[in-house]
Amino acid sequence: MEITMIFMVSILVLFSSSSTYAQIVGSPSLSPAPAPAPAFVNLTDLLSVAGPFHTFLSYCESTKVIQTFQNQANNTEQGITLFVPKDQAFSSLKNPSLSNLTEEQLKSLILFHALPKYYTLADFKNLSQASPVSTMAGGQYTLNFTDVSGTGHIGSGWTNTKVSSSVHSTDPVAVYQIDKVLLPEAIFGTDIPPTPAPSPSPDIAPVADSPTGDGPPSKSSPASSSCRIISWGILNYLVLAVSGGLVLFL
Ligand SMILES: *[C@@H]1O[C@H](CO)[C@@H](O)[C@H](O)[C@H]1NC(C)=O
Ligand SMILES: *[C@@H]1O[C@H](CO)[C@@H](O)[C@H](O)[C@H]1NC(C)=O
Ligand SMILES: *[C@@H]1O[C@H](CO)[C@@H](O)[C@H](O)[C@H]1NC(C)=O
Ligand SMILES: *[C@@H]1O[C@H](CO)[C@@H](O)[C@H](O)[C@H]1NC(C)=O
Ligand SMILES: *[C@@H]1O[C@H](CO)[C@@H](O)[C@H](O)[C@H]1NC(C)=O
Repeated sequence: MEITMIFMVSILVLFSSSSTYAQIVGSPSLSPAPAPAPAFVNLTDLLSVAGPFHTFLSYCESTKVIQTFQNQANNTEQGITLFVPKDQAFSSLKNPSLSNLTEEQLKSLILFHALPKYYTLADFKNLSQASPVSTMAGGQYTLNFTDVSGTGHIGSGWTNTKVSSSVHSTDPVAVYQIDKVLLPEAIFGTDIPPTPAPSPSPDIAPVADSPTGDGPPSKSSPASSSCRIISWGILNYLVLAVSGGLVLFL
């Protein structure tokens, strides 16, 4: 009678521990490890929240170059680097002006602000060595880079400017703010006025940090609850072992 009781208890314990085991095995398949987020950067979104870069963005959209940029960001191994002038750079641009450029010239001018490869600020030394560097406008649309004590300076003949802040720099997309609109010789010619008009104000804008809202999803609670399950399992096995020993002893 007593032995039957012990057997029943043992079987009960065995049953409950094996069901616990099933729970342990089952739980990982219910919550698989989060896959790395796809590296999709919505350039329209990015340019509309930073800056302000509304003028550049509206040129990108009116010329449809935004699709070329987004495609380069989405679908290439190389990625993209954009140099984006602030609205003020466009509004202070008087001579030459962009007002009577053809659609085709405007398109090239916008493409001239992009390199078909992702570059970090640290890569600017490479760009200096590789200058003149081809832009996404192709052909004679090249830029010269120089590294002046860690700051990237960019020259187009008409324009000498520098990177004034890093808006976004995560492979495959880099977006850097520049102080002036890059004017290509391929559009405006090589008859460059000797002294460019003094820039209105040397504005070092506050760094617009990239909205990197991709923190790792919280996964701590399932882990701690499975810990508890495991310790319950151990306890059950302990009870089982003790009662098993009791059976043997009897
Ligand atoms: C990118 O962002 C813009 C503006 O928020 C939105 O209109 C557009 O649908 C987005 N594109 C994609 C592919 O998510
Ligand atoms: C870029 O990728 C997003 C998300 O996968 C997609 O919605 C969008 O249409 C793509 N755009 C281009 C130009 O490839
Ligand atoms: C733009 O128009 C002005 C006169 O309206 C002219 O002097 C100038 O040469 C034009 N610029 C270009 C790039 O066609
Ligand atoms: C920059 O140059 C270094 C060495 O010269 C090279 O290892 C690195 O890959 C280059 N980076 C880019 C983005 O080309
Ligand atoms: C770029 O640099 C090369 C070599 O130093 C020079 O010949 C060329 O004129 C420069 N181009 C511009 C647009 O500054």
